[in-house]
Amino acid sequence: MDIGAVWAEKYRPSDFSELKGQEETVKRVKAFIEQRNIPHLMFSGHAGTGKTSLAILMAKKLFGPEWRQNFLELNASDERGIDVVRVKVKDFARTRAISNAPFKIICLDESDSLTKEAQQALRRTMENYTATCRFILINNYSSKIIEPIQSRCAIFRFRPLEEGELGAIVDRIAQNEGLSISGNAKKALIEASEGDCRKLANIMQSCAASSRTITEELIYSAASMAKPKEIKEILVLSMGKGFIEARDKLLNAMLSQGLSGLDVVKQIQKELPGLDIGTAKKMRLIDKCGEIEFRMVEGSDEFVQLEALLSNFAMAED
Ligand SMILES: Nc1ncnc2c1ncn2[C@@H]1O[C@H](COP(=O)(O)OP(=O)(O)OP(=O)(O)O)[C@@H](O)[C@H]1O
Ligand SMILES: [Mg+2]
Repeated sequence: MDIGAVWAEKYRPSDFSELKGQEETVKRVKAFIEQRNIPHLMFSGHAGTGKTSLAILMAKKLFGPEWRQNFLELNASDERGIDVVRVKVKDFARTRAISNAPFKIICLDESDSLTKEAQQALRRTMENYTATCRFILINNYSSKIIEPIQSRCAIFRFRPLEEGELGAIVDRIAQNEGLSISGNAKKALIEASEGDCRKLANIMQSCAASSRTITEELIYSAASMAKPKEIKEILVLSMGKGFIEARDKLLNAMLSQGLSGLDVVKQIQKELPGLDIGTAKKMRLIDKCGEIEFRMVEGSDEFVQLEALLSNFAMAED
C-alpha cells in the first residue's frame, strides 16, 4: 500500500469522466473549452465536490503540458489582502500565454473570504486584465460575492454528491488500494462524509492505516462519530427510567472516542426524527438541540449542556 500519498490528492479526477455528480457543469465547461473561449467563471458550492479539481482539469485541457505556466492558483485567505493578490496577478498577466491559448487563467480560491472593499478592488483588477486573463473565482457561498463581480461571471453551482456517486468513489479507492469494506461500513462511510469527497478519502485512508478490512467500527472511530445505534439507545434510555445510566453511557462514548459536545449534539439531532415519539414532542426536542448547540458554540461547558439536553429528553411530555 502506498502510505506516502494523500488519497484525496491521489484520486483527484484526471479526466472529466472521473468527476462525479456535476454532469451539467461539466457539459457547459467542455463547450467553453471546445470553443477555446471562456468567460470569467465562478465555481460555488459545498466542500470537496470538485471545484478546484475542475479548474485544474480545464487548465490541463486548454494548455496541455504547459498548463502550469498558464495557470495561477491563489488563495484569497492566504494572501494577506487584496494588494498581494493584485501584485501577483499583475506579474502573472504581464507575460503572454504560452502555447496557442488566447489567455491565461487565474484561479482565486476562497474568494468569499474577501471583504467588500477587497472585492471592489478585485473587480477593477478583473477589468484591467480581461484582454489577457480569465478568472475562476471559487467559493462556498456565491451570495457573499458583490453583485458587479457575480454579473461578470458565468456561475456554476456544485452540489454535494449523492449516495450512489460516493459509493462509486469508495469502490474505486477500495479496489485500487486492495481494501475490503463491508456493506454496513460503506453506508457509514458515505453518511460520515456528508457529500464531501475529500472527507471520504481521508476517512478511508485513516482506516486503511490500521486494517485492510474496513469495518463500521473503524469508520466511526476515524470519523469521530458515535455509532448511531448507540446514540439512539441512549436517547430511548433517557426517556424511559434510565436517565443516570443514559448519562453515564453518553459520557463513556464521548470519552472513549474523543467526541466533542458539538459532534454529539449534531448526532442526537440526526437520530431524533427516527425516534418512536409523537411529532409535537419531536419538535420541542429538535428546538432544544438548537438551543444547546448555540450555548456550546458560545462557550458553555459541553458536559453541563449535554446533561441538560438529556434531562429534556427525560422530562419531555407527549
Ligand atoms: N466530483 C468529484 N468526483 C470525484 N472525486 C471528487 C469530486 N470532488 C472532489 N473529489 C475528490 O476530493 C478531492 C478534493 O476535491 P476538490 O479540491 O476539487 O474540492 P473542492 O470542491 O475544491 O473543495 P473545497 O471547497 O474544500 O476547496 C479531490 O482530490 C478528489 O479526490
Ligand atoms: Mg478547492
